[in-house]
Amino acid sequence: MKKLFITALAIFSLASISCVGTQSGEKSMEQITKEVMEVAAAHCKNMDATLPEGRCPRTFERNRFVHTDIYWWCSGFYPGSMWYIYEYTKDEEIKALAEKHTLKLDPLQWVTTDHDVGFQLFCSYGNGYRLTGNEDYVPVLRNGAKSLASRFNPTIGSLRSWDFKKELWDFPVIIDNMMNLELIMWVANRDGDEQLKHVAKTHANTTMKNHFRSDYSTYHLVDYNPKDGSINKKQTVQGFADESRWARGQAWALYGFTMMHRMTGEQAYLKQATKVAEMILPYLPEDGIPYWDFNSHDIPNDLQDASAGAIMASALIELSGFVPERSEAYLAVAERQLRTLASDEYLAQPGTNNNFILRHGVGHKPAGGEVDVPLTYADYYFLEGLLRWQALGRE
Ligand code: GLY
Repeated sequence: MKKLFITALAIFSLASISCVGTQSGEKSMEQITKEVMEVAAAHCKNMDATLPEGRCPRTFERNRFVHTDIYWWCSGFYPGSMWYIYEYTKDEEIKALAEKHTLKLDPLQWVTTDHDVGFQLFCSYGNGYRLTGNEDYVPVLRNGAKSLASRFNPTIGSLRSWDFKKELWDFPVIIDNMMNLELIMWVANRDGDEQLKHVAKTHANTTMKNHFRSDYSTYHLVDYNPKDGSINKKQTVQGFADESRWARGQAWALYGFTMMHRMTGEQAYLKQATKVAEMILPYLPEDGIPYWDFNSHDIPNDLQDASAGAIMASALIELSGFVPERSEAYLAVAERQLRTLASDEYLAQPGTNNNFILRHGVGHKPAGGEVDVPLTYADYYFLEGLLRWQALGRE
């Protein structure tokens, strides 16, 4: 009788875990998403009210609100966050703000001097088009993809990342650049543009060949010789050391190759993304939010980076859909990351954190910049991760 009772209890507990998907006392992911979206909407409205005309939010650092012109690489994340909030809430005020802060990025479609056009235009115009079908957004995306593709060097087989510090690098390519390929692939698929497709796939293939170590961790920067495509050096810029594993770089690699598998159907990209995921998982601490560099643990009071955690969570949810045998493991990590980011430690209440959503991002620690601060890309990928979780239809 006692044994039966225990079995019945076990079956009941298992049933309740699989229905609700939470341990007892935890909020459901649906409840968390609802609460975060309300908080995020309030932040974004307050942000608009305090943002000077033509400027873009960057961070709140040393008690100062830092904002930029539209050419800073992060200019698409604030409108992109608002598109995600609108997607969930259908709040017309947020939609109007998303449109306003998207349209001000219009000149970026002609930028040929930097690789981040992909981040800037796809998070803003790309989400705007996806949600509204506004055909006026398409030429901006198309022009932006072509401007970005003009940075392709066929001898190297890569898009150039940066044009600055020419005294240091001949042709620098950073792992972050994988993210910009989504804009090119979207236009290539829509227009049937084989040349754009060639550029994006060749860049991904060259990155796969040259950026990764044998354990599938990635260098931050590979510098090439444009004359013959040979490699000058491999190094870090924002990480702890050249041979360390800068957390956000690993996150861009995970997200970038998962996205490239979605956009091309290529199995090689899926294999790469899965190898990167398996490399990352053992480095994550209990709460799922990585230290800003996987190899910086010895530093006293070292910092975790909310942005890397958010990017990884969103990427792992997408990857889980392509790898059935690892799906539950990836989702368990992503859920832990999203729950941690939604906790009081990371999620700022409206009226605090200078109207940014998350705390504790690490931008460029070696330069002493953006250390333990809010970052717009942490906010953006956190909201994206929550929406991707909701799309799983689990709760
Ligand atoms: N793409 C620049 C960074 O991740 O900080």
